[in-house]
Amino acid sequence: MSLVTMREILPYAEEKKIAIPAFNIDTMEITQAILETVEEENCPAIIAVGQAAIKDGKLESLAATVRTLAKDMKTPVVLHLDHGQSVEQVVKALCAGFTSVMIDGSKLQDVIDFTAAVKVDALAVGIGNAHGLYKGRPNLDFQRLQEVRDVTDVPLVLHGGSGIPDDMIQTAIEIGIRKINVATEI
Ligand code: 13P
Repeated sequence: MSLVTMREILPYAEEKKIAIPAFNIDTMEITQAILETVEEENCPAIIAVGQAAIKDGKLESLAATVRTLAKDMKTPVVLHLDHGQSVEQVVKALCAGFTSVMIDGSKLQDVIDFTAAVKVDALAVGIGNAHGLYKGRPNLDFQRLQEVRDVTDVPLVLHGGSGIPDDMIQTAIEIGIRKINVATEI
């Protein structure tokens, strides 16, 4: 099938009370392996292209690879811009066929003002999660996650998925995380 948008698959995640995995890709081989696996597992997935791959000039080629492979799949796949840095970059991604874009406003905004001003499909939270591998068990602040959940109905996203133990992933999903980003572990 053709790529789907984030807005199309997150309601499914909410209905089933699951989180959709978002996997960062930077080579054709990794992309192929992830898409073959999600098709086997019949698990909707988000394929994300991050800033390192974009810096390497791979935005268009990775987008073309995902578009081509997804066409022959039954499982819904989203092509997502991870940590978008500017409006220009977002436009470039949309022109390359991305069906979801993120703007990284982590240094600018708080949840209530931001979601009041901008109609977002998903919102990434900072609860002690971090990119890369954790030293020991991560210290995730589930109370803060619950507080964010209480002030907005927007589906919530957890970055820094690599190395978070299963029980913590489960708790995060129970509170309302609907998308989990994984890069380092891949
Ligand atoms: P990890 O590299 O820790 O899995 O984080 C991935 C991520 O959040 C991409 O935005």
